[in-house]
Amino acid sequence: MLIAQFSDTHIKPRGRLAYNKVDTASMLRAAVSHVQALPQQPDLLLITGDLVDVGDAEEYEHLKDILAPLTYPMLVVPGNHDDRLTMQHVFHNLLVKPEGEFWQFSHQEPHWPLRIIGLDTVNTGHSGGLLCQARLSWLEQALSNDPYTPTLVMMHHPPFITGIGHMDDIGLSGREAFSDLVRQHDNIELIVCGHLHRNIRSRVGGRSVMTAHSTAHTVQLDIAPDAQAMFSMEPSGYLLHWWNGTNLVTHHAHTGKFEGPHPFFEESGQLIV
Ligand SMILES: [Fe+2]
Ligand SMILES: [Fe+2]
Repeated sequence: MLIAQFSDTHIKPRGRLAYNKVDTASMLRAAVSHVQALPQQPDLLLITGDLVDVGDAEEYEHLKDILAPLTYPMLVVPGNHDDRLTMQHVFHNLLVKPEGEFWQFSHQEPHWPLRIIGLDTVNTGHSGGLLCQARLSWLEQALSNDPYTPTLVMMHHPPFITGIGHMDDIGLSGREAFSDLVRQHDNIELIVCGHLHRNIRSRVGGRSVMTAHSTAHTVQLDIAPDAQAMFSMEPSGYLLHWWNGTNLVTHHAHTGKFEGPHPFFEESGQLIV
């Protein structure tokens, strides 16, 4: 099974740039083309929040058009820039469309080796995230219902301190309880997040956790408590999680135009040195 993960697509209304600088729509189109050109096609696309920039219907309509060429089944969770109600109307190929107070789900297709749990970390009106008691109780139940199937958890706000101070200031409340909970469930194969706009890996409650790069701009790498809130235009990308039969193996795909591929060997079979 191959799973692509987009994150923090931050789509604006047509013709508008994010922060007057970032053409998030063109960058997402580049990611769509890149994934379509992969020699192995994903079985599933995850999007880990901040799908649009301010949560307007106009932005979601734009997002819908950009994603239209992709026919993979999709699972998404909201980020702090999203509106849960508006985003319900966007996707034509969502496997699950939660309708309760929170956008949470536990889903496995019969032919999948993995179960996917989606968590809603949005604290409405705030940039920081929250896993309240209601959401944690739901998670506890979902995990207890199936203690064996390898499970991938997707959520927007990462449940760990990254070191980038201004992002940690808008981090996740409730992460200690989350850590205690996931520690009890060793079938959690991987926890994937967004929000940081860069690829960061850590461990929470003994489980592997990582944030994905945005398909657009990048939060500046500055691991300081007083780091300035800045972004840069490093090569953007997405993650590819491959199930090898036992574990998930994660590859980082860059979506820019790069030289190559070039052969390692000459036609004679000699290694080029
Ligand atoms: Fe974001
Ligand atoms: Fe975010």
